Amino acid sequence: MKIGVLTGGGDCPGLNAVIRAVVRKSLEYGHQVYGIKRGWKGLIEKNYEELTLDSISGILHKGGTILGSSRTNVYKIENGENIAKENFKAMELDALVAIGGEDTLGIASKLFKAGLNVVGVPKTIDNDLNATDYTFGFDSAVNVATEAIDRLHTTAESHERVMVVEVMGRHAGWIALHAGLAGGADYILIPEVPFDINDIVDAVKKRHARGKKFSIICVAEGAKVKTEEETDKDGSFVLASLKKDSFGHVMLGGIAEIIAEEIEKRTGFETRSTVLGHIQRGGSPTAFDRVLGTRFGIFAAELVNSKDFGKMAALKGSQIVGVSLDEATGKLKTVNPEFYELAKTFFN
Ligand code: F6P
Repeated sequence: MKIGVLTGGGDCPGLNAVIRAVVRKSLEYGHQVYGIKRGWKGLIEKNYEELTLDSISGILHKGGTILGSSRTNVYKIENGENIAKENFKAMELDALVAIGGEDTLGIASKLFKAGLNVVGVPKTIDNDLNATDYTFGFDSAVNVATEAIDRLHTTAESHERVMVVEVMGRHAGWIALHAGLAGGADYILIPEVPFDINDIVDAVKKRHARGKKFSIICVAEGAKVKTEEETDKDGSFVLASLKKDSFGHVMLGGIAEIIAEEIEKRTGFETRSTVLGHIQRGGSPTAFDRVLGTRFGIFAAELVNSKDFGKMAALKGSQIVGVSLDEATGKLKTVNPEFYELAKTFFN
């Protein structure tokens, strides 16, 4: 078989571990593997090259993706689906492994229904892909954010300041919740639970009253306010930019600064903000992500070998299983209210 592999959407640590595993296992089966460059863009432009043992050697520990990535949406390109199908044929591919998040795998799901032999691997630092307990990349991002919170703690304490740290998470607060809990944040804001600025101010004041002269607030970039007065017409507290990507997502960022200003104004406590941004997506994968990525990659190669298409490799408990691409992309996996309730124990 000739198998294509591509990485789409925002990059994340662990992508190379998946590529390596797909290639190693597929070569073991006697297949050939072709790396398609820059996600779906490579399929549209027929930009690809054969992946050999040599081309995947020494990449396990490296962040990013040797194939490159983009947020190309096949269905936003005129006649995109047909071009993708024609190129798949012209490249003489028998199957395709798409490694990506909701957007990339949403396209994979549509192309599967349109007749292409596709399997998926769940990637995103946001951990918001449905039907898998974890996506690879998430653990690495949480570790980066946790280390950042640890570092902010020492300077916050020295200067008796409030520190507001903004982490990624457009629709789901998994990174904020995990890093906030691991880093001992004093308040965590997530998109799933709209917040009231007065509650944060009260928590910070309460800490001060009991002698804690510094506080750490961990906020997901997509967090939203509860009250209508503070809400802009898009329903978000702050939109740093109204620029949208090809999937129609507004580019976020900047909520930490607004919250920091508001806290300082309402409490009189010196407050600073930090936006972690793409630092969370860069660098080497954690051991957990290397192993998870490797297991996902091997499973994807097995799905292809057994011609079990239209599926995504998923982690359920400690097992890797196949779930339908439809189920994986039908809805987002957001933080459950009970988990957030648990975190509230530490909000003050
Ligand atoms: O999809 C993952 C993600 O890192 C989100 O958390 C974030 O909102 C977005 O990508 C940023 O996208 P870009 O790198 O295109 O600015």
